Amino acid sequence: MSAPLTVGVIGPAGFTGSHVCVELLGRGHTVVGISRHPEKFGTHPRYVAKSVDVGQLSIAALAEAFSGLDVLICCYGPQPGGPGSSLYRSFIEVVRRIVLAVRQVENLYFMFIGGAGSLHVPGTTGICTADDPDFLVAYRRAIADSEAHTSYLVERLGPMGSALREFRTARVAERQGQATEETRAFIDDYEEKARSQDFALEFIQAVRTTFMFFDGNTSFSWTFVSPPPLYRPGTRTGSYEVAVDDVPLTGQKVSDNMFEGRLTGITAADLAIAVADESERKAHKHQHWTASGDLSDDKPTSIFKTLD
Ligand SMILES: NC(=O)c1ccc[n+]([C@@H]2O[C@H](COP(=O)([O-])OP(=O)(O)OC[C@H]3O[C@@H](n4cnc5c(N)ncnc54)[C@H](OP(=O)(O)O)[C@@H]3O)[C@@H](O)[C@H]2O)c1
Repeated sequence: MSAPLTVGVIGPAGFTGSHVCVELLGRGHTVVGISRHPEKFGTHPRYVAKSVDVGQLSIAALAEAFSGLDVLICCYGPQPGGPGSSLYRSFIEVVRRIVLAVRQVENLYFMFIGGAGSLHVPGTTGICTADDPDFLVAYRRAIADSEAHTSYLVERLGPMGSALREFRTARVAERQGQATEETRAFIDDYEEKARSQDFALEFIQAVRTTFMFFDGNTSFSWTFVSPPPLYRPGTRTGSYEVAVDDVPLTGQKVSDNMFEGRLTGITAADLAIAVADESERKAHKHQHWTASGDLSDDKPTSIFKTLD
């Protein structure tokens, strides 16, 4: 059992952040929730809500907000802006500010929650999954084959998620031998878009690029956790498996697309265990890693945790 820590969580009421906060509080740590509305997570004797806009505060003021923490976990995610706004720019710019501030704070272990897009394609010299069209198609297919994952994204994306629901329905019809010409045309069109202009590609690429703020830099204490591709709400099973740099794949190749049917995932509750373990053990300092778990329970569950 670890000594009680004071852990800052940027984005405590978000999808990843809320699960991480619950796990840390359950282990007896003090959690400082840092975001614009950290009170949304609820109240607890060891939960301190610190209202901070990481896009607005000066870097010196951010460093001040992070001082006194043993560990800082960045679960920041940008909200889509208005027309013409760039998620790529806003994510990169905000993460740059956070990293610069972190580097001014002494004795801080910084854990960044990135994305599956920075994980490497096995057998290549560091090509990222975000840049491999085969990965993007296999990723969309795998999501659509899970009711829990589809429901999660439909709820998060609103109208933008309806094409994913339609894609799932079309894939089920195809598997059952009930696909019409129209169904097949929809599948082809959806997959063509996934290859070249997936609606989430800009964000996936932004998150993959942020790893460059860390890669090879040993001047501060960091660890970079990429959730695996099939990361979604679900059961807390209590176990997970770590892989470093490469995207983990299961089984043997079943088609020309090496990712087909082989992508792994984890529930947010199980990733939170891996994140809390890393806060306590610091076993993956200066590493880019992921953790996969058991997704056999495919029932949709709530996305966010709260204390109330
Ligand atoms: N499979 C994958 O690769 C995968 C899947 C999902 C997520 N992720 C990664 O996980 C990370 C977190 O994503 P998520 O979906 O869990 O997050 P989320 O649910 O979108 O939550 C984002 C959090 O960021 C906070 N935030 C937004 N703007 C802020 C600002 N200006 N100042 C301070 N806080 C701000 C929000 O809190 P307030 O509104 O209170 O400010 C919110 O709690 C991201 O890096 C994402 O790429 C990866």
